[in-house]
Amino acid sequence: MSVAVYPGSFDPVTLGHLDIIERSAKIMDKVIVGVLKNNSKTPLFSVEERVNILADVTKDIGNVTIKAFDGLSVDFARNCGAQFMVRGLRAITDFDYELQMSQTNRILRSDIDTIFLSTSLEYAYLSSSSVKEIASFGGDISMCVPDFLGKQIYDKYGIERNEPEAME
Ligand code: PNS
Repeated sequence: MSVAVYPGSFDPVTLGHLDIIERSAKIMDKVIVGVLKNNSKTPLFSVEERVNILADVTKDIGNVTIKAFDGLSVDFARNCGAQFMVRGLRAITDFDYELQMSQTNRILRSDIDTIFLSTSLEYAYLSSSSVKEIASFGGDISMCVPDFLGKQIYDKYGIERNEPEAME
């Protein structure tokens, strides 16, 4: 049985992450999304909130489960019985970091391989950081995150956002 973990911060999950989850779930028998607990930065959403949000957005994908983890991703993968780690590649700017991380992970555990999925073009510009920046200034994030999540993100910044009136 092919098992993959998809580790990340998911603070917050974006439509780009969701695209990678959906596509890896079609390739693998089982995908476990790992939400990192020990971020050095203070996250916008607590780990419990991120796990719940991810569980909600993936509830219709039968072979996907969500777990929080701390420590090394390779240890999380081993504990999950995974042979693969999935990561999304948006652009060449991701490549250096992702290549280095996958090679380090292979030094740590040679039996776990990283599989890179290229992000679908419509999400290539998306990142959790830009979503947070746009939302913090009250900008439109409806094209970045699942529908129900927008309000939760604005709430974190104390922003009450009224959708602009449709143009006549
Ligand atoms: O969504 P992100 O923030 O790009 O995800 C980064 C993540 C969580 C995959 C990475 O920081 C990670 O694996 N952290 C756990 C510690 C670890 O295993 N580091 C890799 C060895 S250098």
